[in-house]
Parts: sequence; C-alpha cells; structure tokens
Amino acid sequence: MNPRTICDNVWAVGTIDWDRRLFDELIPLPEGTSYNAYLIKTAEKTVLIDTVDPPVQEQLLHNLQQLEVDRLDYLASNHAEQDHSGAIPAVLETYPEARVVTNPKCRDMLIDHLHVPGDRFEVKENGESLDIGGRTLQFFTAPFVHWPETQFTWLAEEKILFTGDFLGSHLATSALFVENEAEVYVGAKRYYAEIMMPFRKMFGKYLDLIDELGPEMIASTHGPIYPRPAFILDAYREWISEDVKNEAVIAYLSMHDSTAEMIHHLINALIDHDIRVKVHNLTDVDLGELAIDLVDAATLVLASPTVLVGPHPSAAYAALVANALKPKARFGAIVGSFGWGGKMVEQLQALTSNLKLEWFDPVMVKGKPRPDDFATLEALAEAIAGRHREAGIS
Ligand code: FEO
Repeated sequence: MNPRTICDNVWAVGTIDWDRRLFDELIPLPEGTSYNAYLIKTAEKTVLIDTVDPPVQEQLLHNLQQLEVDRLDYLASNHAEQDHSGAIPAVLETYPEARVVTNPKCRDMLIDHLHVPGDRFEVKENGESLDIGGRTLQFFTAPFVHWPETQFTWLAEEKILFTGDFLGSHLATSALFVENEAEVYVGAKRYYAEIMMPFRKMFGKYLDLIDELGPEMIASTHGPIYPRPAFILDAYREWISEDVKNEAVIAYLSMHDSTAEMIHHLINALIDHDIRVKVHNLTDVDLGELAIDLVDAATLVLASPTVLVGPHPSAAYAALVANALKPKARFGAIVGSFGWGGKMVEQLQALTSNLKLEWFDPVMVKGKPRPDDFATLEALAEAIAGRHREAGIS
C-alpha cells in the first residue's frame, strides 16, 4: 500500500494489520488493527508523526521513499509503546539528521524501551510549539491516554489533531476516513473498553481541550481518521460519564449445571424486571465483548462453582480483568455453588476491590439448587431492580 493523501501536504504513511488477532498477548482484535503514521511536508521542513510496529517498518520506510523524503527534519512521537515507536530506531538510522520531538517523559521512555540516543531529542513541554515553515505544530501532554507519557500533536493551520492512541479503533479497513460511523462505533467502543476505560476519569479535560481546539479532523494511531470529530467525541462523553444503564452483565460458568441453573433462573427474573441482561459464559468468552458490555452496565454479576476453596479460575480471571478495567458499575452480586464449603465470595469480592461495588447478599447453594434457592434468586433480581430504580437508572 502506498501513501494516501489526507489533505495538501499531509499523508497517511502507516500500515494496516489485517491479520493481528491479539494485542499485548491479551486484547482480542477480531477486526485487526492499523498502526497509523502521518507525514507533513512544508516548503522548509518534513515531519513524521509517530511510526509503526517493528515487524512492518519496511512498509513505513517504503512510503517515505514513495513521497521522496530525502531528509526528515522531525519525528514527533506521541506515545512510546512499541506499536507506534518501535520503528523509530530504523527511521533515525535512515534519516540521520532527524530529531525526535516529544515531552520529557516520552523521551525517557523511548531511551529505556528503544535505546534511542539522548542527543537525538528535541524536548517540548506541554503547550509548546514548533515552527515547521509556514505551519505550526503544538504539543499537548495527555497522560494516560494509555501510558503516562502520551501526548497530542496539533497541526494548527490544517486543524488536524493527532491524538496517538486516544479515540482510536482497532479496525483494519481500507477506508482512510470513517465512512460508516455505525461500524466504527463498535470498533471504537471495544477499543475504549479494552484500553482506555481504566483511565476514563482523566478524559474529561482532554475532551474539553479538543473542543477548544476545534479540530476538523482527528487522526489517531489506530483505525480510520475522523472527518466529523463530533461523532467520536460525543461517544466518549457518554462512555466516560458517570451515567450507567439499566443493565446487568453476567459473567458465569458452571461445571455440573448447578450454577448454570441458578444463572438461567436469575436471567429470566431480571428480564421480568425489565433489566437488560448481557450474558457471558466464561468457558468461551471474548474478553473484548465482556469489556464492551461493562462500559455501561449498572450491575455486575459473577457466578461460579467452587473449585477447591475458591472460584473457578476462569471466574477469577474475569474478575481480575473487570477490576483492571475499572468500569463504572455500581452494584455487584455473586452467585455460585459449592460441595463442602469455601471462600469464593470473599475471594471474588477481593479480586474486584477497585470497582467499589455495593454488594447484594450472595446466593451460594450447596449442591443442586432447591425451590428455596430459586426464590432467593428471584429476590435478588427484585433487589437489583429496586436499587436501579432508587438510583434513577433507566
Ligand atoms: Fe497503540 Fe498504546 O499503543
């Protein structure tokens, strides 16, 4: 794939990874992804914004050659993670005069992770600018739009904001710009849920900054460019808000059907109370789908049989993932079965301590559930519906 024109003197020079199915050996990528890099040429300077993952760096270098880049003045690095920084050493070797422009924290991380020589940097503090000859780049630190060193780069004259990971989507598509917002919404929500959600409380001020800048385009390092930024900005405003929906996410598994019988009864009772139920059987779960459902839900239900004295390891893993992603769920319930005792409730609650959930009484059953146990599950559904109502969740 050759470079593609974004507007006069700005090109997309990154790569599309159609085949990648896992990121960080953890995050499912059912639609692949892209590693977006951008080139800006003015009468005086040539600037590359970010690079690509090392296995595809030849494609980036090829694109620079296609654009007849004989000299590269600056390489602006918005994020030190290797899918965007990993080709920096190869670019610096190809263009010995190029200087890496970034903030102090990102500089230090690039030195640590990639051994970029310290004398190759031009450091910019938050809000500082760089004149690139009739055009201006301005740099805004935006910590934890994945890692602590992340920043945005603003091309003022063209009103393009390069946001690094922020607002991206793991979506391999031939579309350079968003064409189908509904399709991109799904990919962007998955990306937010899997990567950005733990840091959501910081994002309000970044969205305010972006509103102030008023970009005509937002170009992230993953997924297509947004020619209508309001689409993704509005979605983020909703996802990061404290508002939750009248939904219960149920993550469960069962070994000998006791837990399954209980959960199916609870699901039906929740539906009877008009609660939307999102169910994930943990024996074959896409963690990304679970993460997406956790973005909005008011209640999380974890259900598991007891293995030895604790939850089934798959339930513990789901709890650990939910704890790390820090969704805004307010209420929690634990349902399960046991043969002779155990500490499952305490262990699952400890594994989800980040979530600060208000817990309903657990429903733990010895062996196969009896009529009384089903009645207790109906009472649990009623209690969940009641707390949703009291909290004004609709
Ligand atoms: Fe796309 Fe945090 O790297």
